Amino acid sequence: MIMSKLLEQIDKDKIPVHVAIIMDGNGRWAKKQQKDRLFGHNRGAQSVMHVVEASADLGVGYLTLYAFSTENWGRPQSEIKGLMSLLGKFLKSEAQKLYKNNIRLHTIGDIGTLPLPLQKAIQDVKKKTECNTRLHLIIALSYGSRAEIVQATKLIANEVKQGHLDMAQIDESLFAQYLETADFPDPDLLIRTSGEQRVSNFLLYQISYSELYFTNIEWPDFSKDDYYRALISFQTRKRTCGKI
Ligand code: FPP
Repeated sequence: MIMSKLLEQIDKDKIPVHVAIIMDGNGRWAKKQQKDRLFGHNRGAQSVMHVVEASADLGVGYLTLYAFSTENWGRPQSEIKGLMSLLGKFLKSEAQKLYKNNIRLHTIGDIGTLPLPLQKAIQDVKKKTECNTRLHLIIALSYGSRAEIVQATKLIANEVKQGHLDMAQIDESLFAQYLETADFPDPDLLIRTSGEQRVSNFLLYQISYSELYFTNIEWPDFSKDDYYRALISFQTRKRTCGKI
């Protein structure tokens, strides 16, 4: 196999620990092919596997993918149904690959709102991969960052009310422990495809110091080489996190 020229340019000692991706542009990509939106989502699932494989190979520790936002419930029922069924099929068909490649599945978001067969598929793959350690694959499903922050605030308020926590103990790191991402480090790099330059209610607390990378490539076209380009760009950034 010919090694990608871009892959050769990546400094293996400066791989981001956590990459988060807003996978945008499936609908527009499909429209350009005169196909329906679900065709775009189906192709998008292939891009997911390219990025998962590349992340595992390069030693990225955590990969968070925004697959369905709380706002996405406002889409036509047919698209929602198709997406849910695609996610379920994806989990079933890729479960063995995730397991064998030492990849552990996690989710963030309100999983209880998803159709029961999808909830079951998620539970099964989580269970199957729970001892895996090479890559943590975190899929955001029915996820909204503002809702997550409000929920964390309620949990902390309740702890104070119950007398388990003192107001003085509340600081940034304690707050982070009440977010759904408590077990994961903050993303180093946030990628958004398809040319839009916004964060759309994704990991708002966690991306405070993340490097942002926007590309015009639509998600179904996003290849390993496109991912390598994002990583190379990340490696040229000078990260001071507010210091000098
Ligand atoms: C945004 O494109 C994409 C989504 C809302 C769904 C993302 C889902 C996938 C990539 C399917 C597979 C996912 C996994 C985790 C297996 P859009 O529909 O908003 O596109 P548009 O902005 O061009 O309309």
